[in-house]
Amino acid sequence: MVGFDTIETASRDEIAALQVERLAWTLRHAYANVPHYRAAFGTAGVHPDDFRTLDDLVKFPFTTKQDLRANYPFGMFAVPREKLVRVHASSGTTGKPTVVGYTAQDIETWAHVVARSIYAAGGRPGMIVHVAYGYGLFTGGLGAHYGAEKLGCTVVPVSGGMTERQVQLITDFSPDVIMVTPSYMLAILDEFRRQGIDARDSSLRIGIFGAEPWTNAMRREIEDGFAMDAVDIYGLSEVMGPGVANECLETKDGLHIWEDHFYPEVIDPDSGAVLAEGEPGELVFTSLTKEGMPVVRYRTRDLTRLLPGTARTMRRMEKVTGRSDDMVIVRGVNMFPTQIEEQLLKSEALSGHYQIVLTREGRMDEVAVHVEARPEFFDPVLLQAEAKVVAARIKDTIGLTIRVVVEPPDAIERSLGKARRVVDQRPRE
Ligand code: DLL
Repeated sequence: MVGFDTIETASRDEIAALQVERLAWTLRHAYANVPHYRAAFGTAGVHPDDFRTLDDLVKFPFTTKQDLRANYPFGMFAVPREKLVRVHASSGTTGKPTVVGYTAQDIETWAHVVARSIYAAGGRPGMIVHVAYGYGLFTGGLGAHYGAEKLGCTVVPVSGGMTERQVQLITDFSPDVIMVTPSYMLAILDEFRRQGIDARDSSLRIGIFGAEPWTNAMRREIEDGFAMDAVDIYGLSEVMGPGVANECLETKDGLHIWEDHFYPEVIDPDSGAVLAEGEPGELVFTSLTKEGMPVVRYRTRDLTRLLPGTARTMRRMEKVTGRSDDMVIVRGVNMFPTQIEEQLLKSEALSGHYQIVLTREGRMDEVAVHVEARPEFFDPVLLQAEAKVVAARIKDTIGLTIRVVVEPPDAIERSLGKARRVVDQRPRE
């Protein structure tokens, strides 16, 4: 069998039939038990009975982060609070966090899709899995943990931070798999170098990286540094946590969405119109099996496009370019940190540690990209020339005039989880 479950390679008809049945259930469940959905469906003039085929889903209203905030903390739950065995919450840099709840069955489903994800990445029962995603209200640590246990692996629940110890535990315990944000993986790579250990000699053979956007250039960086396969895992708390979609080791060509549990759409973020397969836009999810907190047409704000299946029949999403909120608009040009990352990593003298700093001089916005040199290339004269080359490349590809500042190794803030790529120092209007 190709995957962890037969449904991963089922016919499209079989998958669609399951989705219709499960969407009908979700719409009824949300309508009957969540006042927000009853009201929103009423305003839109739709009823769960209006859903008969997949094409009917467009009649139903979107759900946004604002809806979740307005119902803080427990207002979106569809079961009595006592039926929930766990809550998680998003960090919520602005305003209140978003709270999500899981029944025992939801935890089971979540562990299952993460187990399937690890399997797709090449993980197998009996392997040792080092989990360096943060444990706590963030879904990364516990999500990865339950999934790895479910697959039958030995889990090392390290969580994020204490980078020296991460290296020690990897060296001593010999894990096969690591699950961590790609930016923190680079920090671990630096620590290997600092300790004089060649990371390519480590036991790690598979890395399952997500929780933030990262490019194929970053994939090569990590794969070369560790002599491992690096695959992408996607998810968000509102929809479940990690394990909504995962790349397959066989093809590494985008992330297969676990369509038996999450129904994807891509929409035009301005008009809300559903776009055809292959067209880029905002990803929207409807949960198919969630009991505790079903979501109907939840707008993720993540930008990507849907693609047909390859290694699995389940459709793929392209690597996420970024969130619409992370899009930097400078002097009329739109730019995502991932576009900068791609250009920086073309230079062998530069590392993947970077930050984009926005300032305002008079009425003009200025962009400076701060990037660390690789230790073996730290020659100020050479690097100044390199900075010019990279700035010219960014001007050519993105169309934006920026300043590239090459910093010495270790100058840029390290995050233990999601990296902060954009620092906006412009005065607020
Ligand atoms: O980051 C869940 C997760 C944990 C996914 C560990 C993968 C691994 P939140 O904190 O709710 O949940 O943040 C969700 O992070 O809407 C995306 O913007 C971003 N994100 C998650 N995975 C990826 C990825 C977790 N593979 C938000 N590529 C999402 C790009 C990602 N962005």
